[in-house]
Amino acid sequence: MTRSSLQAACFVMLGTCLLLSKTSLAQKVEPTSESISKGEAIYNKHCQMCHGATGMGDGPAGKRINPKPYNFRDKEKMAAETDEHLFKEITKGKGPMPPFERKLKENERWMVLHYIRTFAK
Ligand code: HEC
Repeated sequence: MTRSSLQAACFVMLGTCLLLSKTSLAQKVEPTSESISKGEAIYNKHCQMCHGATGMGDGPAGKRINPKPYNFRDKEKMAAETDEHLFKEITKGKGPMPPFERKLKENERWMVLHYIRTFAK
């Protein structure tokens, strides 16, 4: 192999790596038993104090705030919300709820979203 073809091969590999890392960042995580169980751990750490262990919005910190934390067991309300809408609320925050844009990675926000959907099933 010549030096220039070696260089070309390196560029191609680098380009592929960059492309792969970019698409995987922008990708929505699918709800699988693995992503949901990771979401559960995230929920217990970051959301449970307000939204409650069973998703009813009755966590110890949630009791004192107004408006009340969203009740994830409300099937009708949850079914009316798209994933994209809920994802945006988790990312940007809403009312007394803080934004999770910096605290959680994008894929972690999807995982926790898949987990909260299990409350209304
Ligand atoms: C400080 C308490 C608090 C924490 C922590 C918190 N939330 Fe909330 N959340 C709220 C409150 C209050 C609302 C209702 C806001 C409103 O109606 O204006 C809400 C609303 C929501 C909504 C519904 C938004 C909509 O469409 O109206 C979602 C989804 C949500 N929270 C997800 C989460 C997730 C996931 C976490 C953890 C990563 C989390 N929340 C952590 C208090 C909290």
